[in-house]
Amino acid sequence: MIQKSFVMMKPDAVQRRLMGKILARFEDKGLQIVACKLIQIDEDLAKTHYGEHAEKPFFPSLVEYITSSPCLAMVIQGEEAITTIRKLVGATNPLEADLGTIRGDFGMDTGRNIIHASDAPESAEREIALFFNEDEICDYKIIDNDLIYE
Ligand SMILES: Nc1ncnc2c1ncn2[C@@H]1O[C@H](COP(=O)(O)OP(=O)(O)OP(=O)(O)O)[C@@H](O)[C@H]1O
Ligand SMILES: [Mg+2]
Repeated sequence: MIQKSFVMMKPDAVQRRLMGKILARFEDKGLQIVACKLIQIDEDLAKTHYGEHAEKPFFPSLVEYITSSPCLAMVIQGEEAITTIRKLVGATNPLEADLGTIRGDFGMDTGRNIIHASDAPESAEREIALFFNEDEICDYKIIDNDLIYE
C-alpha cells in the first residue's frame, strides 16, 4: 500500500551538514519526497509533536534539542513507506542501530539521533497535519525514462 510518512532531520543533521547524504538514502531506496522545508520549531510545536513523551525524564532535553536549530521537515511517500523508512532510520539509540541505517551510520547518542520518522499510520497522519498545509504537499508522478510509477 502506498503510504505517506512524516520524516524530519533533527538539528544535529542540519548542523553537521548531513542533509544531502541522508536525503540521498531515501531517494536511492526509491521513495518519493512530496514535501520538504527547513523549519525552526518553537517550544509549543516541539511539545505537541513529542506529546506522548511529556512525562519522560528526557522530555525537557528533547524539547531543547529539537528547538536548538532548524530541522528539515519532509513528507516521504512510497510503498509501505512508514515501515520502510523506520528500517532505513534504525533503532532509537544509535549505538544499537544496525550499521547501514541512518542512525547506525551517523550517530553515537540517543539524545542526538539525527532523524525522526513516524512509527504508525495514525502518527504519520497527525504529524503531517501538524507540520504541513495540504497545499505544501506535491502530488506528482515519477517519470523515469519510459516508466511511470503510479
Ligand atoms: N533515553 C533517552 N534519552 C535522551 N533522549 C531520548 C531518550 N529516549 C528517547 N529520546 C529522544 O526522544 C525521541 C523520541 O523517542 P521515541 O521513543 O519516540 O523514539 P523514536 O520513535 O525512535 O524517535 P522519533 O520519535 O524521534 O522518530 C528519540 O528519537 C530521542 O531523540
Ligand atoms: Mg517516536
